[in-house]
Amino acid sequence: MANAIIVYDTVYNNTEIMAQEIEKGLKEAGVKVVVKKALDAKVDELKDFDAVVLGCPTYYDDLISSIKWFLTEMRKVDLKGKVGAVFGSYGWKAVLEHIYAPMKNIFGMEMVDPILKKKMTELITDEAKRDCREFGKKIAAKLK
Ligand SMILES: Cc1cc2nc3c(=O)[nH]c(=O)nc-3n(C[C@H](O)[C@H](O)[C@H](O)COP(=O)(O)O)c2cc1C
Repeated sequence: MANAIIVYDTVYNNTEIMAQEIEKGLKEAGVKVVVKKALDAKVDELKDFDAVVLGCPTYYDDLISSIKWFLTEMRKVDLKGKVGAVFGSYGWKAVLEHIYAPMKNIFGMEMVDPILKKKMTELITDEAKRDCREFGKKIAAKLK
């Protein structure tokens, strides 16, 4: 059975809602999933997963520091060929390419396209939640 880890952080829970829905989508597609906040996750454990999914909100045109640090540390692990995916909530302009680019270009991961971005105002809708579950299924499809 393929497995995935979702590592994310959040301040006002919008990115957490996304993580929960992506988790549901992955599980519905038969993937075993572990979900952790960045401060509780260790880069070493990533080697045990087929897919690594990172979630981060945008604050002050930037990633939040816990995710930046986790991403920087990820270089210590061989992630080449693993499936990667990126998501996050934002207000007006997300900066999630800063996560996507090193995953693809430095770590050599097989990325799910496009990045899943949801505006904070969208997340209360069933449609946005469904998109997140579909994103989970898309990650699962790339694992096959
Ligand atoms: C102090 C502050 C700064 C923010 N800065 C940005 C920003 O630079 N760009 C942007 O698109 N959204 C910005 N936002 C909006 C957040 O990205 C948005 O509320 C998002 O849903 C937060 O995700 P979270 O609930 O997972 O923390 C900011 C929000 C706050 C409160």
